[in-house]
Amino acid sequence: MEIIIAKNYDEMSRISAEIIAAEVRKNHDLTLGLATGDTPVGTYKELVKLYKEEGLDFSKITTFNLDEYVGLAPLHENSYNYFMKENLFNHVNINPSRVYVPQGNTNDPEIFCEWYENKIKEAGGIDLQILGIGRDGHIAFNEPGSSFASRTRVKALYKETIEDNARFFKKEEDVPRFAITMGIGTILEARKILLIANGKKKADVCAKFIEGPVTSMITASALQLHCHATVVLDEEAASMLTRTEYYNWVRDNKKLVQKKIGR
Ligand code: GLP
Repeated sequence: MEIIIAKNYDEMSRISAEIIAAEVRKNHDLTLGLATGDTPVGTYKELVKLYKEEGLDFSKITTFNLDEYVGLAPLHENSYNYFMKENLFNHVNINPSRVYVPQGNTNDPEIFCEWYENKIKEAGGIDLQILGIGRDGHIAFNEPGSSFASRTRVKALYKETIEDNARFFKKEEDVPRFAITMGIGTILEARKILLIANGKKKADVCAKFIEGPVTSMITASALQLHCHATVVLDEEAASMLTRTEYYNWVRDNKKLVQKKIGR
């Protein structure tokens, strides 16, 4: 895992947007996995800026969102579909026919999940998957105990996750108890992974998933099994890491190493 520690939320957002933009520039047909939550809002703002100021071209990319609440229609203001339109899709030249977000109000979630997995395969797999992290260490909605082999499916949400996400709803009782989510197995098949996290409340879980043991109790720790995972944290989220000096040294000397090996 490559660990990049940014000064603050804005720098974290700029660095992560630049990592995504570099992939889009390299591969116009990129298949991009997208995340929701407060964390990636700044990253999406930076991507919109790159589109407006530099003409970063999203017209040929395909996107797959990680998850969606069961029971919420795509136009519901608390749906992740709505979130994506508000924060990214409506502001860049993305082709709506290449945008996939799990359908929360599907009549048959099981068939839908199989269809979603097939769509990802048909698109050639995910090239770069963006992730945030929940306080209990979940990625997408893969709550503690999720199998590392899991695929897109319906998952019951953990108490802590419901409490955390209640801030987006009028009252806690309105938060759906279930979500459709890509599985850990689905996520690990992405060619590259970029996880972003900020703030003190994520410090403990970031130290655990980066420097602790691999465990399904902290599903983000599955990233230790991935050969191309990058983590961008702000200083607060990185504050409980024990090897910060090493991560910073690697970051600062990366260019030097690349020069030495002729890249
Ligand atoms: C939800 C989403 C996750 C996200 C997490 C953290 O549970 N399903 O994909 O990473 O919230 O959200 P935030 O970025 O708001 O802390």
